[in-house]
Amino acid sequence: MGEMESTVRRVRVPHLAAMKKRGEKIVMVTAYDATFARLFAQAGVDVMLVGDSLGMVVEGHETTLPVTMEAMLHHTRAVARGAGRALVVADLPFGSYQACEEEAMRNAVRLLKEGGADAVKLEGGVASEAVVRRMTACGIPVMGHVGMTPQSVKLMGGFRAQGKTEEERERILDDARRLENAGAFAVVLESIPDELGGRVTAALRVPTIGIGAGAACDGQVLVCYDLLGLTGAGAPPFAKQYAKLGEAVVEAVGAYAAEVRG
Ligand code: KIV
Repeated sequence: MGEMESTVRRVRVPHLAAMKKRGEKIVMVTAYDATFARLFAQAGVDVMLVGDSLGMVVEGHETTLPVTMEAMLHHTRAVARGAGRALVVADLPFGSYQACEEEAMRNAVRLLKEGGADAVKLEGGVASEAVVRRMTACGIPVMGHVGMTPQSVKLMGGFRAQGKTEEERERILDDARRLENAGAFAVVLESIPDELGGRVTAALRVPTIGIGAGAACDGQVLVCYDLLGLTGAGAPPFAKQYAKLGEAVVEAVGAYAAEVRG
């Protein structure tokens, strides 16, 4: 095992709180298929998120709103087959949990039962509190998601950083606290000031997983296409690129095309 690799063998939900307690950072990345899941498992990733970001990076939509339950199930099954020791978290897509608790419960159950996920993730604080409480009470582990919540893109008027005013920052902290009290085992903090990421992390017993929320969070998540350099100009400003796979693909397929034509 590499020096920087997690000490946890098969990652389970309670391990994440234990990792926070030990000060061990949680490594989370999105995954959408079995091949990448297998590679991320080899790299020692702790948590694989089957994000509804697949609507943008895999399906080519401008937002995550069109993503269906069927698409989430399809990709979750694929990731679960390749994930190895990693915990698999699947996003509940837009419209699958907002209408009523019964529908939310049925869809969350499907992601675990038919998709093979270990947990679900949903967006929103106060608005999602009741459904998180119900799911947790029924044995479904839930990861929360506050700050910039992409499913609210129409309301926010774009993918805009959140927490610009003290009032907004207080609301985000309150949302995160409510999710923890409702039973969420971790909370994603997206696109908020670093200082607020630190404040929320200090206030919660459960781990925070940041994406554009500063280094103080208990873990970090990135969309794998951004991390690997496949999204080009479409990547958000906070998404650090660790490879230029987009360029490598164009070069490799260009070389193949030239050889075929020659
Ligand atoms: O859908 C997704 O990929 C996400 C991450 C950005 C946290 O929710």
